[in-house]
Amino acid sequence: MEERTILTEKSYKTVYRDGNVVIKEFAASHPKSNVFNEAYIHSVAEEAGVPVPAVLGVEPRNGGWAIRMEYINGKTFGDLMKEQPEKEDELLEKFIDIQIEVEGRRTPKLRNTRYKMAEIINGLSEIDASTRYELLQRLHGMKRHTKLCHGDFVPSNVVIREDGSYCILDWAHATSGNAGADAAFSYLRLTLDNPELAEKYLRLYSRKADMPIQYIQQWMPIVAAAHLVKHSGSERELLEQWISVAEYQ
Ligand SMILES: Nc1ncnc2c1ncn2[C@@H]1O[C@H](COP(=O)(O)OP(=O)(O)OP(=O)(O)O)[C@@H](O)[C@H]1O
Ligand SMILES: [Mg+2]
Repeated sequence: MEERTILTEKSYKTVYRDGNVVIKEFAASHPKSNVFNEAYIHSVAEEAGVPVPAVLGVEPRNGGWAIRMEYINGKTFGDLMKEQPEKEDELLEKFIDIQIEVEGRRTPKLRNTRYKMAEIINGLSEIDASTRYELLQRLHGMKRHTKLCHGDFVPSNVVIREDGSYCILDWAHATSGNAGADAAFSYLRLTLDNPELAEKYLRLYSRKADMPIQYIQQWMPIVAAAHLVKHSGSERELLEQWISVAEYQ
């Protein structure tokens, strides 16, 4: 019998620890190509020199597929912010420094953010054709870059070890593109969980990356649309409000 500790459980995946290894096991219904694609992107980040858990393999498990990786001993920024709320500002600053450091890398090997987003927006049946058109126009007007964008840069995806070094998890959504989109996504996710922290994030990211807040905000309707499918209820209402900004400009 394996010594397993479940780290997180969702309808389509279970992440658990087994000694020095983490196994991210997907349900049988989850496409095999998505699992291999996540392991591929994760390996690209590893080869680019980003501190990530080493990918150890992709293997069949319980009828589906699983990614095996190194276990990183430490705490996520999410854990630390909960444990030490008085240190929130300091932690946020470090979190942003890491994001900017990652975005400083070029990764032409990954899919471009704009193509991925355009495909998602084109496929959104819940948004009418005119709004989709406005969103795509806006997307095409954005500057083209090939920066490494993690695509899900949130406090629960960055682990800090005891010696202060960091390691970034969860590479399924990484692309090569414009860092404004990456920051807009982090802002969006933080707003859904903790609006006050999100506003601090936006101001501090803008200052540290020397990127105008307006520029990040221009990405908001696009990024909100690209994540609409994953949300329901009040979160969905908020995303719809952000998307509607694009309709009247
Ligand atoms: N290699 C690892 N080393 C240490 N901890 C890990 C590792 N992989 C995952 N974890 C822990 O498990 C949690 C969930 O893992 P992961 O982020 O890969 O999955 P997830 O389902 O996408 O989570 P979320 O959507 O909440 O970000 C992480 O926030 C972290 O606490
Ligand atoms: Mg995660």
